[in-house]
Amino acid sequence: MQNKYFTTPIYYVNDKPHIGHAYTSLAVDILKRFYISRGIDSFFLTGTDEHGQKVEKAAIDQGIDPLKFTNGVSQNFRDLSDLLNLSNDDFIRTTEERHKISAQNLWKVLLEKDEIYLSKYSGWYSVRDEAFVAENEIVEKDGKKYNGFGSELSWVEEESYFFRLSKWQDKLLKFYKENTDFIVPKSRANEVIKFVESGLKDLSVSRTTFKWGIGVPNNKNHIIYVWLDALTNYISALGYPETEADLYKKYWPGIHVVGKDIIRFHAIFWPAFLMAADLSPPKQIVAHGWWTNEGQKISKSLGNVIDPNELINVYGLDSIRYFLFREVPFGNDGDFSKLAIKNRINGELANNYGNLIQRILSFIYKNLEQNIELTEENYDFDILKQINESEAELFKFIENYKFDEYLKKLFLFMNDLNNYVDKTAPWALKKTDPEEMKRVLANISLCIIRVTQYLSPFMPLKSKEVFKLFDNLDDIDLFHFDNFEKIKSLNHFKINKPEPLFTKIE
Ligand code: MSP
Repeated sequence: MQNKYFTTPIYYVNDKPHIGHAYTSLAVDILKRFYISRGIDSFFLTGTDEHGQKVEKAAIDQGIDPLKFTNGVSQNFRDLSDLLNLSNDDFIRTTEERHKISAQNLWKVLLEKDEIYLSKYSGWYSVRDEAFVAENEIVEKDGKKYNGFGSELSWVEEESYFFRLSKWQDKLLKFYKENTDFIVPKSRANEVIKFVESGLKDLSVSRTTFKWGIGVPNNKNHIIYVWLDALTNYISALGYPETEADLYKKYWPGIHVVGKDIIRFHAIFWPAFLMAADLSPPKQIVAHGWWTNEGQKISKSLGNVIDPNELINVYGLDSIRYFLFREVPFGNDGDFSKLAIKNRINGELANNYGNLIQRILSFIYKNLEQNIELTEENYDFDILKQINESEAELFKFIENYKFDEYLKKLFLFMNDLNNYVDKTAPWALKKTDPEEMKRVLANISLCIIRVTQYLSPFMPLKSKEVFKLFDNLDDIDLFHFDNFEKIKSLNHFKINKPEPLFTKIE
């Protein structure tokens, strides 16, 4: 399989990181870890989107110079990467020189190719979404105008450069047709196609009424529209304009994971900009749904923003990682409720997975001088064989972003294992048939390792704890799925004293 390049959106720095940001980043982290575990080279990019009217306004409101302001807030997002144990390979800021060079170069290429022209813009604009809004998308309420996301609009009238988006309408439609999995999920693809079919107008791509942005080359009155600037980050980080750069050659085109609110920018504008510049469009746009908090839209004004720090303090990082991707199919909206988290943690992580490990490994630790012998027969164990045989199906789930199905499937095996333990009751066998007891315990131990390997992209820290319980497996990197085979070269395990993996939530 080809190298993989996964990106998160770059986050606006007008705000503190919240659960929505964490969700996108975690999804990409899981994907990166999963492909690395399969031995497939993968690159993970995240970063911050630091220009535009919204950020400038946030800085002015706080009486700080925009660059100083963005330095501070961008750091919050770097801290979030640490907090979430992200495996990102790079963190890009749009205020960096490498990005400025890249964005200005893309601009020059588009201008040279006559894809950009100077004219005048007059129309409605949403500062919150940094987006121009067409007349037929305007919602009026109490004499004010809003877009479909409920953001208030302001009237903008200024000289502006335009990108010939209209010219790309048919080429985009052809591209979607030829690349049927360009937009995931399908429902979102249909929305995009409908929108493009309804007619694309040329897009205003520069602004003159504020200063906080990357300058348009050769016209100091203009700055580049923040979305053209921001989208370019995905190639700046790979070394563009140097299309011969190692990273660019190795990883472009990439897969962009985004929230459903920003799909239009990624699935329409971005491929059009790239095609217009004679560059490859992205490989795929994967859109996820939105989280609500106990049934309510998450918003600052409602005061119900979920802070990832607090969440992780209360429930633990890996439990949250598990919950977010088990609870809701990736493309759907989901509701964040304390009861739902509690049920998942107690029912699945503590009672099922954690308990299996605790009771089996403690038993080995106490009764078999920490030692478990392995024979060929253990590798023939029914449930282990079933797990191994479902590998292709499991991989397909992740390839299709069905994280919930993947986890569900693994937990069905966990049920089988717990039932097997109940049925064979190794503690009773201790007196009646010690050889059989050893066989049963070795069978289950191998399965625990196997399932833990597959869970590791979702719960890397907990997986490491589990791997560490097998004292003499240190030299085998069990995060790589194929290394399971290497266990065969050992003929026994030594078990360290297990501690409960998950604490139940009251
Ligand atoms: N800066 C742009 C992206 C530019 S990419 C070239 C942006 N930034 S953002 O900070 O506003 O949003 C980043 C991501 O957070 C988006 O994918 C958005 O969908 C996601 N979320 C914000 N709130 C969310 C929820 N309540 N639930 C799930 N994700 C949400 O847009």
